[in-house]
Amino acid sequence: MTILVTGGAGFIGSNFVLDWFKSSDEPVVNLDALTYAGNLENLAPLKDDSRHIFVKGDICDRALIDQLLATHRPRAIVHFAAESHVDRSIHGPGAFMRTNVEGTFSLLEAARAYWSALQGDAKAGFRFHHVSTDEVYGSLKPEDPPFAETNPYEPNSPYSASKAASDHLVRAWHHTYGLPVVTTNCSNNYGPLHFPEKLIPLMIVNALAGKPLPVYGDGQQIRDWLYVTDHCSGIRAVLAGGALGETYNIGGWNEKANIDIVKTVCALLDELRPDPAGPYSRLITYVTDRPGHDRRYAIDARKIERELGWRPAETFETGIRKTVAWYLENEAWVARVQSGAYRDWVSQQYGD
Ligand code: NAD
Ligand code: DAU
Repeated sequence: MTILVTGGAGFIGSNFVLDWFKSSDEPVVNLDALTYAGNLENLAPLKDDSRHIFVKGDICDRALIDQLLATHRPRAIVHFAAESHVDRSIHGPGAFMRTNVEGTFSLLEAARAYWSALQGDAKAGFRFHHVSTDEVYGSLKPEDPPFAETNPYEPNSPYSASKAASDHLVRAWHHTYGLPVVTTNCSNNYGPLHFPEKLIPLMIVNALAGKPLPVYGDGQQIRDWLYVTDHCSGIRAVLAGGALGETYNIGGWNEKANIDIVKTVCALLDELRPDPAGPYSRLITYVTDRPGHDRRYAIDARKIERELGWRPAETFETGIRKTVAWYLENEAWVARVQSGAYRDWVSQQYGD
């Protein structure tokens, strides 16, 4: 038994692979193109572990996927690989269409050919697990209930439109060809190994460097935060017991305004690494808003809780404390990911 993971050198994918081996010896073939967001250092604890087979490659490369499926005969594909940053999708949507839409198409076609040739239990047990986002549902008003799986799709950014497109492909491959798929739509993740272009790690690394903490618009946009290993346990629960063709929302019932997140990070840093120059909140700087910025996301996670008994292990308070502590203990990791390419992105997005 083996699973094929795509995008397993990124933030969530690498947490998923590391977490997988805490409760399973089942080998993982990890296919990742190592874009700017992919980092083999995330997988360093598995360097000499024969259960982990890393393959550098692109999900758009159909011949490579066919070869990996034929060689390793996985019982499941867990598909994380994507371009994932909304701001980058605004500057350059092309890469998002290629990886998120064409890449998912290529993977689905390869999976369909492989699965069609399986027999008996292997065929019945095969799963294609598509990892998606709450952003496909659009933006909520303050009085709206959280997103349920039945909400209509109303994606607003090039990123969320590309993920919505991929979700529709997965749905169609199940409906038309019978491919055994499950899809999860998760809210904002945070935790160790998060690339510092996203809100929480960016605030931590900027604060430690004494740089401005850029808050878009009025900072009152709301996101629903989930500690990354809770997302991983949700994926494992759906992979093991999710009903075919179904989608499951994953979230931790943790709606927070961005400005409150930034203030929480500052307060934790004040406690754990006080700055003689004064409280870190002095660095908060309101900047021009993100174009088309979604105002509020919130996940109704009752389906996965009810049907699969999943619950998050972390509260926001325990998770954010662990996260800040991880960045303080891993400054060498941060320094290494802040390469030339990272610096180019920061100056394009925030100016010099
Ligand atoms: P990430 O950007 O940190 O990692 C993406 C990984 O995919 C990287 O390792 C990258 O090298 C790889 N990749 C990109 N293009 C590829 C290609 N063409 N072929 C092979 N590999 C490729 O992303 P993440 O935050 O870990 O997100 C993982 C998945 O979870 C994505 O599908 C994303 O849409 C979804 N998701 C993310 C969040 C979140 O808060 N980060 C929330 C819900 C869902
Ligand atoms: O909701 C799930 C999604 O969460 C995932 O699908 C995406 O892959 C992931 O990147 C994330 O998208 P967001 O756009 O919500 O995450 P980001 O960290 O970029 O921004 C979080 C909020 O913080 C958002 O309202 C924008 C704001 N923000 C972000 C940055 C980078 C700032 O105010 N300042 C910043 O510098």
